[in-house]
Amino acid sequence: MADLTTAIGGFHFDNTVMNGAGVWCYDERELTAVDTSAAATFVTKTATLDPRAGNPNPRMAATELGSINSMGLPNKGLDYYLDIVAQFHAKNPDKPYFLSTTGLKPEEFTPLFQKIAASNFSGLVELNLSCPNVVGKPQIAYDFDAVDRILTEVTAIYHGALGVKLPPYFDLVHFHNIADVLNKFDLTFVNTINSAGNGLVIKDETAAIAPKGGLGGIGGGYIKPMALANVRVLRQLLKPSISIIGTGGVQTGRDVFELILCGADMVGVATQLGKEGPKVFERLSTELSAIMDAKGYRQLSDFRGQLRVPAEQPVTVH
Ligand code: SIN
Repeated sequence: MADLTTAIGGFHFDNTVMNGAGVWCYDERELTAVDTSAAATFVTKTATLDPRAGNPNPRMAATELGSINSMGLPNKGLDYYLDIVAQFHAKNPDKPYFLSTTGLKPEEFTPLFQKIAASNFSGLVELNLSCPNVVGKPQIAYDFDAVDRILTEVTAIYHGALGVKLPPYFDLVHFHNIADVLNKFDLTFVNTINSAGNGLVIKDETAAIAPKGGLGGIGGGYIKPMALANVRVLRQLLKPSISIIGTGGVQTGRDVFELILCGADMVGVATQLGKEGPKVFERLSTELSAIMDAKGYRQLSDFRGQLRVPAEQPVTVH
């Protein structure tokens, strides 16, 4: 078996696959299932200051190629996740865990991070700036000034390991815009990408989900090319001290391999985890390991970021 260990900042993990925030991470039962699987670690559901029920049902649908969801950040509130992560940490002191969080209003970021800073949380905080499903709220990370403001505020309060969950970017200028902002801060990681916002899936003649007139975040195989591009370009633009968690469209070990080839240090799994359950991590690890063995790679650093691009051939006008 190849060596699948990885590191993010000074944190060491004994595998390279984990859940994406939103899937199998709502409560103690789900987090325990991921914690006791082959996953490297878990990230919690995105915690808001107060518990939230999220959007009305039906709010999630699986399709052959992926999924659509408009969950709307249902969660049990920051206090619950701080407490539950502390319990996992007490049982596994050497295993770093991720806490996902976000503010629903600009004035919520300070109290959120004051609370985290005042707790004994010693893992990594993933600040979700990309949920497409909160009714009436924009995806923050498409507003580069807002990201700058929030990170300025948050990093003044919180000095632990911090990363941001990003939406997919499509225009090269936007990759530069977000990288310029993120490079100003002492971030430990970025997680790219969240689901692609505001897609529409139709079953018969009816939208597959109810909130927002049927619009929701698209995950799974549909978005893998976007995930690869976002990992690849951000790896080129972000300073080397910022690690990358690549998330989006992972169905097989080959998908994990390709995200690492583009520069990912860790790989998140969401839609496929929802379809297959936490046993997916064992399968992905076995498949990734077999690919590495076949290629003679012993560790992830043997191929991380080593994507080859064909040389451009001149084209003549006929
Ligand atoms: C949701 O709760 O709507 C999904 C999580 C996310 O997109 O950040």
